[in-house]
Amino acid sequence: MVQDDVPIDKYELYEALFDPEWGELVGPQRNRKANHKPKKSRGEILAELADDLSDVEMGFNTTYQPSKHEQGWLLESLWTFYDEGLITDVLAMVKGGKEASVYLCEPHPATGLGLLAAKVYRPRMFRNLRNDAMYRQGREILVAGGNPAGRDSGYLERAIRSGSAFGQQAAHTSWLMYEFTAMEQLYQAGGAVPRPIHASENAILMSYIGDEFMAAPTLNTVNLERDEAERLFHEVLHNVDLLLQHDLIHGDLSAYNLLYWGGEALLIDFPQVVNLHNNPKARFILRRDIQRVCDYFSGQGVACNAGALSHELWRRYVPELHPEDRAADESRLEAMLAEIAEESGAHRVAA
Ligand SMILES: Nc1ncnc2c1ncn2[C@@H]1O[C@H](COP(=O)(O)OP(=O)(O)OP(=O)(O)O)[C@@H](O)[C@H]1O
Ligand SMILES: [Mg+2]
Repeated sequence: MVQDDVPIDKYELYEALFDPEWGELVGPQRNRKANHKPKKSRGEILAELADDLSDVEMGFNTTYQPSKHEQGWLLESLWTFYDEGLITDVLAMVKGGKEASVYLCEPHPATGLGLLAAKVYRPRMFRNLRNDAMYRQGREILVAGGNPAGRDSGYLERAIRSGSAFGQQAAHTSWLMYEFTAMEQLYQAGGAVPRPIHASENAILMSYIGDEFMAAPTLNTVNLERDEAERLFHEVLHNVDLLLQHDLIHGDLSAYNLLYWGGEALLIDFPQVVNLHNNPKARFILRRDIQRVCDYFSGQGVACNAGALSHELWRRYVPELHPEDRAADESRLEAMLAEIAEESGAHRVAA
């Protein structure tokens, strides 16, 4: 029997410590935050985290020296990859983010793989997912290994809705598995995406894009010559098309989630992937992806009409569902885009 009301886990304590705003809030939020403040002292919590670490460390020494607050979470998240002989070391942090951090890892020589990137989720993401609901619509819950929950799905749905610790873990696993399986499908189809290697409860291991001196920049930081911009634009659209062939829409596509390396643009960051046929807002999510891609490429001199492109792509895969007049469609679209922006939260839209 799985318990729904598991007590606050150590990650929540970790969250409280890692959050730079902890204890510094002013105004009306103070009380709300104060309720989350762990009863234990900061020193006690850190000592416990250090104890946890000694359980999982088991000889897993890393070149990269994580901060004290990061280390228990990081090494526990990467332990499976180490234990399964996929990685031997963590060399550096590629990028630390609010929702996930990416680390450069040394592959085990027996794998024959080049440098690897491990995307490690911060547990917080799965408690504060403001935009989770929209992407979960029409998506079955995936369990570890990437299979649909099947006859357990009703039970898991209820647990997720209840917000219990168990439900959060189920949502977390499903979210991560959607990212991993979408990458696998695109990779298998010959798409431009880092090669997915393995997924654990809290992390995804994939090929690292970059070299020993620098990680690939995201496209939003790059200025392109017009010819190259046109070529890459078509490459990105080709990848959107490959995803559609697998009934998938990226859901958070923009120049921020395209890595530029070796004259190629590679798609990353797939947890918000939605099903083309099952998600009621799929068409609008596709339109938003195309719009954001066009926003970047039009700034690089490429002529693109996001509305026409996404209409065309949509019709290619779901022709029978949208016989309605295009103009009426566009006005509905505007309203939907505004709604999606609202649901996604201003922070992601701004990103
Ligand atoms: N395979 C990879 N090789 C090299 N760098 C990578 C790789 N995957 C991700 N990165 C780097 O890590 C960053 C974060 O990855 P990603 O976009 O998947 O996570 P995220 O959810 O956007 O994280 P956050 O929102 O917290 O920034 C990317 O912007 C990119 O700079
Ligand atoms: Mg990203």
